[in-house]
Amino acid sequence: MDKFIIEGPTPLKGTIPISGSKNAALPLMAAAILGNSPTTITNVPKLRDIYTFNNVIRVTGTHVIFNEDDGILTIDPANIAHLEAPYELVRKMRASFYMLGALLGKFGRAKVSLPGGCAWGPRPVDLHLEGLRAMGADIKLEEGYVIGNAPDIMDGGTFTLEPSSVGATINLVLAAVLRAKEFILKNAAKEPDVVLLCKRLVEMGADIEGVGTDRLTIRAVDHLDGVEIRNAADRIETGTFMIASAMHPQSEVTLTGVDTDDLGHFPDTFKRTGTEITMDADRIHIKAPSELNSTNISTDVYPGFPTDLQAQWATMMTQAPGRSKVTDTIYHDRFSYVPEVTRLGADMDVKENKDYIEGKTPLKGASVMSTDLRASVSLVLAGMVAEGETDVLRIYHLDRGYEDLEQKLTKVGAQIRRTDQKE
Ligand code: UD1
Repeated sequence: MDKFIIEGPTPLKGTIPISGSKNAALPLMAAAILGNSPTTITNVPKLRDIYTFNNVIRVTGTHVIFNEDDGILTIDPANIAHLEAPYELVRKMRASFYMLGALLGKFGRAKVSLPGGCAWGPRPVDLHLEGLRAMGADIKLEEGYVIGNAPDIMDGGTFTLEPSSVGATINLVLAAVLRAKEFILKNAAKEPDVVLLCKRLVEMGADIEGVGTDRLTIRAVDHLDGVEIRNAADRIETGTFMIASAMHPQSEVTLTGVDTDDLGHFPDTFKRTGTEITMDADRIHIKAPSELNSTNISTDVYPGFPTDLQAQWATMMTQAPGRSKVTDTIYHDRFSYVPEVTRLGADMDVKENKDYIEGKTPLKGASVMSTDLRASVSLVLAGMVAEGETDVLRIYHLDRGYEDLEQKLTKVGAQIRRTDQKE
């Protein structure tokens, strides 16, 4: 197991290239299974979750080639024979559950393990299953597996997501494009990852009306063709580095390869901290303020504030004088970073789904533990402004979702070393 040793504080100066998005790539990979010919996806990041999903797909008999140096993934579904996603793989990554929609949609049958728990409380899949049932599929639960059957074209019908769910929208779209006569999905997620998936499915030949809105109407077509797809830039990595660049008053950073259209209201919210930003279509320049303004946020569905940037924002607020409040309306328990950032000297207090932060507190290096992907990156952000040495343990969480994190940050001035963590 690896850990990071971070020496701080260090300002960040220079250019950071943004990688392809993990959360956008995974549904595109699932969509590739629906094609009658190979699909090629470019700008795919070298991340543990991508390797895991490659293996999930391979279990079915799909041929997957990942040219890691060029970020090109080729998926050839010609020889799928095994319509299953086993527990050993699904438990490693919840998004493996997209196999349910993809396999059921293409073959009318699927056996996919239920994903199980998560570091920040329950993450149900009830909407995925209810939506498939509403579409006309027979869905049973047996020994921890979901068994889906829809041998003929399903009628479809109407289903409303309450609350809106990214994963359920993706699973239902994947199932419907080849197998539902007419399926109307209301309150569908509009996150850029969903919009990209729908647009590329349309290129493959799918009939989807309302792409980019919260009402999707899908009518089954008899086949889809493989296509070439460019994956989007990672909007959460972008937001994470914007926050990192605001936390030290001498930092000035340019992010390149950004899809600025995918950031929703985040840049406007970010400006309220007093940080100067200038943006083009594919780059953002960030200049930290001498003093950050304390700024409250509340997470929401896109284009609102992403829950995946909540922990990083709260960590930034430890460096803003005054009181700020971070509310998570999507995942009410997503505060596992709080005790760890507090070990570095932060003053945070969680009540219900709110984190109250009292700033500005000087942070001081200590050993801290990663608990999940976004919590761990917050510890890295804190470590870069903390005085002395911060050891971030169990960074395998980071390797799931941040490509070359320490190389990217070291190039702009951070002092971060990866070393073997002896338990
Ligand atoms: C995706 C992202 C994750 C992000 C989340 C919210 C991927 C691989 N993961 O996760 O990084 O934090 O969107 O933007 O893209 N819900 C139900 N029943 C369900 C499904 C969801 O009640 O069947 C609830 C959840 O508990 C949560 C809300 O819906 O409160 C949104 O979750 P959802 O959008 O489904 O998250 P994921 O797709 O799992």
